[in-house]
Amino acid sequence: MKSILLIALFIALASASFLTKDEVNFINFQQKYNKVYESHEYAAKFATFKSNVGLIESLNQKAKAQNSDLTFGVNKFADLSPAEFRKYYMSAVSATPSADLPMAAELSDDIINATPVAFDWREHGAVTPVKNQGQCGSCWTFSTTGNVEGQNFLAAKNPLVGLSEQNLVDCSNNCMEYENQKVCNAGCDGGLQPIAYEYIIQAGGIDTEQAYPYTAVDGTCKFDASSVGAKITSYTMVPTNETQIAAFLATTGPLAIAADAAEWQFYLGGVFDIPCGKSLDHGILIVGYSAQRTILGANTPYWIVKNSWGADWGEAGYLKVLRNKNECGVANFVSTSIISAQ
Ligand SMILES: *[C@@H]1O[C@H](CO)[C@@H](O)[C@H](O)[C@H]1NC(C)=O
Repeated sequence: MKSILLIALFIALASASFLTKDEVNFINFQQKYNKVYESHEYAAKFATFKSNVGLIESLNQKAKAQNSDLTFGVNKFADLSPAEFRKYYMSAVSATPSADLPMAAELSDDIINATPVAFDWREHGAVTPVKNQGQCGSCWTFSTTGNVEGQNFLAAKNPLVGLSEQNLVDCSNNCMEYENQKVCNAGCDGGLQPIAYEYIIQAGGIDTEQAYPYTAVDGTCKFDASSVGAKITSYTMVPTNETQIAAFLATTGPLAIAADAAEWQFYLGGVFDIPCGKSLDHGILIVGYSAQRTILGANTPYWIVKNSWGADWGEAGYLKVLRNKNECGVANFVSTSIISAQ
């Protein structure tokens, strides 16, 4: 009897040891995120997962080497290659800063000097819960609604109401001529906030989220003028100076921005402060800013970024990004809608 038990134990241990660490991690990943693969795609998914584990390790080493509190890890995106991730979760229309777009005048020294050292619009009821764009490159619509939701609450003094990204995905296929190029919004294939503001102005408003819910796929336009949740009168770009941006944010509301998000896929938390590109391929919203002490006692200023990759990504759907260094190009394409008194 005893020897049979020992043999059973031996077999269990031996077979367990046939699984590599990566295999065990991949099985745990599938269980945790309810991933079910077709047998023909399993090998490719596992290869992508292993490669991502290596990528996560190297990103964590970069962060550690500069005493950052930034961490990366296996999350729900660990079975997507960086190229797949770019296709599904970023905008294929790249934002280009341009003098052709309307630009707000710089704020005065008096306003700059009165700007608080830290500010968070979530504490003032101007931010809706984190949303999820799904596998659709519609980040630009979430960035736009986030800003207009804030302006509708702060400038128009309406109750905070969620606005419809699907309205923009389906209907804002208008174009804009700038930098000698014709750039058009294209639903799940990407778009830009200024073009979306122009659509909302032309249409006479944007529907509420409730009236026009999100589906994460391109559809025909079902805009309903009787379900409008907010109207805007114009929009402006904001100066690319981060001191100015902080003052604009604190005096105006959450601001729509664009950034290079290529290395945000596996972000778990901390201030994103490692070297980063400046290809503006992702639309998001800055809702505040602050600073924190690092391990070595230095002061690290950061932006509080609302993302649209679900509340189970990053810090409850949010990301902190280093401020005052134009990290990931965050200062290069900042905008806000404007609601003037009628
Ligand atoms: C950014 O704006 C601030 C406040 O107006 C100003 O003091 C500073 O010189 C500007 N920085 C640059 C690089 O222009």
